[in-house]
Amino acid sequence: MSWKNTETRYGKLSISLHWLMLLLIAAVYFTMEFRGIFPKGSDGRTLMKELHFMLGLSILALVWLRLLARVIAPTPKIRPAPHAMQEKIAKLMYLALYLLMICTPLLGWLLLSAEGKPIPFFGLELPPLTGKDHAFAEQMEDWHVQIAQAGYWLISLHAAAGIFHHHIRRDNALRMMLPGSR
Ligand code: HEM
Repeated sequence: MSWKNTETRYGKLSISLHWLMLLLIAAVYFTMEFRGIFPKGSDGRTLMKELHFMLGLSILALVWLRLLARVIAPTPKIRPAPHAMQEKIAKLMYLALYLLMICTPLLGWLLLSAEGKPIPFFGLELPPLTGKDHAFAEQMEDWHVQIAQAGYWLISLHAAAGIFHHHIRRDNALRMMLPGSR
């Protein structure tokens, strides 16, 4: 299998990034949703938060590689081809998923910056994107949480579409994204 996408299937780069991003997104949601299992101020709670920040920032770093893989090679075509309307909806969904992977971590970075808090990244500290501003931090947090909540719906719809293509339409959409399958 080539590392680049071809007309008939995704390449190794896109496939690896797709499933790695899924793991990262699951871990980013998990660390925030379940931070409450550790009491406030404990080391465990701090670790959950730092993992949330660092894994979220990794998504922001990797999404550009995914976009690059998409622009340097053709996007494989689903066979049998879906209706034109279905293709338009799929394109809008992909756009929304890419926006989720870019805007959510960026808003998180802005939010920590405006709170005047450090932005950890695997032993490094990233620069703040803005000065300390309480009202701005509140606004960023509001958007960060709202987009993250919408993300649950988007990701569920995306997964449901994959199952629909595979089991109901019986086309190659899901198989094109699975490692090793033809
Ligand atoms: C795709 C990436 C990300 C997703 C899906 C995501 C999702 C979430 C979710 C679901 C929450 C919890 C909202 C609630 O309390 O109900 C949250 C909170 C938060 N996130 Fe993210 N996040 C991402 C990336 C980031 C990044 C990169 C940062 C910072 C560098 C960040 C900083 C924060 C902060 C500061 C909070 C509030 C924490 C608190 O209440 O103490 N997030 N995020």
